[in-house]
Amino acid sequence: MIILSIDTSCDDTSAAVTDDAHVLSNVISSQVRYHKKYGGVVPFLAQRLHRERIRSVIQLALSRSRVSWNEIEAVAVTYGPGLAPALEVGIATTKELARERQLPVYAVNHMAGHIASCFAVLGTRPRDIRLPALALLVSGGHTELVLVKDEFRLEVLGETLDDALGEAYDKLAKMLNLGYPGGPVVATLAERGNSTLYNLPVPMQKSGDLNFSYSGLKNAVRLLINNLKELSGTPILNQQQIQDICAGFERVAHQSVVEKVEMAARLHPEIKSLLMAGGVAANTALRARLRRVSRQYGLAFYTPSNQKLCTDNAAMIGVAAYLGRVAGQSPVALETLDRMPGLHL
Ligand code: KG4
Ligand code: ZN
Repeated sequence: MIILSIDTSCDDTSAAVTDDAHVLSNVISSQVRYHKKYGGVVPFLAQRLHRERIRSVIQLALSRSRVSWNEIEAVAVTYGPGLAPALEVGIATTKELARERQLPVYAVNHMAGHIASCFAVLGTRPRDIRLPALALLVSGGHTELVLVKDEFRLEVLGETLDDALGEAYDKLAKMLNLGYPGGPVVATLAERGNSTLYNLPVPMQKSGDLNFSYSGLKNAVRLLINNLKELSGTPILNQQQIQDICAGFERVAHQSVVEKVEMAARLHPEIKSLLMAGGVAANTALRARLRRVSRQYGLAFYTPSNQKLCTDNAAMIGVAAYLGRVAGQSPVALETLDRMPGLHL
């Protein structure tokens, strides 16, 4: 099925064309440089930029896919979770298009989209992911462990009690004046740091469940930064200290993820694959650690085929709509389609 998909859940305006799990085009117009100076995403600025860009992003997705409007069989759109003003733009545009072109609409959960990004096919190499699978979703808004059962039925096993892992990266970057988003820059600095110099706590080590938490680690890092500044008598940390803090943060944050994934794998011996998706899946150090865990537990390991499929994008929404449809999901009635900012899986 050839689907035109749209995602405007946060600060990326994205449209894509997919044919079943095959990605024919995936256009992402990032707003990050507009939000950067505010240190995070400003919802109404995001809305205005989505409105200005959405139609041209859709046109570009169509022309890059070499698919004509007449060949599009359905529209898929993210209806949550995300920023309400931002989601509204994708939904309003979808309704206009569906009415203009008489097309059915599939409403997709953004998090199901991130999981589906692992199933997305670029080029011709098939991705025969064996289910049930364990999916680790690590983005700026979410940290979740999800059981992907047969027919793409999803069950949340654990989630963060406070900050998401990507958010923790972003907050650390803010404390160190490294700009926004924090993930990529913290990851690069961590490569040159000593990860064991500072004694930071591994989050949620004794929780006995599959939940995550990053606020304790954030506070420990804040204390450490203040102590280092006091000791040196200057309000600025040197480059080596910044690198060591980033490395220490990554070591314990990743350790926490690895321990939870291992616990889930032990509790669910039926799983055959491990999937990792969301913006933080772009982190090569975490990928390498989870690849090792997969090997130890005899699981096949999948992450999205490229970086564009890791961060927010519309192709994953099209693939999720396709997987949902194969599992028996129906299109939505346009009158009932509305944004659900706090939507859960
Ligand atoms: O999935 P995503 O694009 O947006 C949300 O739905 O949240 O994820 C964005 C998050 C940001 O917090 C960003 O700092 C983080 O992903 N991120 C990374 C890396 N690249 C992006 N975190 C760690 N390492 C990276 N290489
Ligand atoms: Zn996302």
